[in-house]
Amino acid sequence: TNTDLDRAKTLIASIPDYPEPGVNFRDISPLLADGAAMRAVTEALIAPFEGQFDIVGGLEARGFLFAGTIAMMSGVGILPIRKAGKLPRPAAAVSYSLEYGTATIEGPDVLKEGERVLLVDDILATGGTLTAAQALVKDLGAEVIGSAVVLELEALGGRKLTGDVHTVFAG
Ligand code: PRP
Ligand code: MG
Repeated sequence: TNTDLDRAKTLIASIPDYPEPGVNFRDISPLLADGAAMRAVTEALIAPFEGQFDIVGGLEARGFLFAGTIAMMSGVGILPIRKAGKLPRPAAAVSYSLEYGTATIEGPDVLKEGERVLLVDDILATGGTLTAAQALVKDLGAEVIGSAVVLELEALGGRKLTGDVHTVFAG
């Protein structure tokens, strides 16, 4: 319900100066702990894409949590997009820049050609992670039909990299 969705926004805590000075960390733990708020957020993530995706791609680690709820509510499976070195048989890998250094994500060989993937993560910050995931899905031979996040940190301008993203909350 709308009341649950309104409450969900208040369940994302802002923690100043974590993990380093100047960073305002968003902690979704209180949201994860509230079943009705999680249901409302999951419905809001799915809404624009209902019936349009065959599988949901979740970004390790926090994106996995919403990929799970979306998958169960939509009757689709999950594509785990993992941090490098976790998959025994990675079928594709994409590297991207972080503030310091680079990171790599990998995906398994489970997608059928042309399968429609909805990507999901908790937070859109600089957009590096989600943009890499979009490229990874293409490398895996499937199609990204949309990207959805719970919270977009608009000031960081991530959607300049990602293109259109469906966001439940902005902050
Ligand atoms: C966080 C967050 C997003 C990403 C957003 O993940 O969960 O996945 O950063 O940042 P970006 O838009 O600048 O790429 P992180 O890898 O820090 O940790 P996690 O494993 O807990 O999800
Ligand atoms: Mg993450």
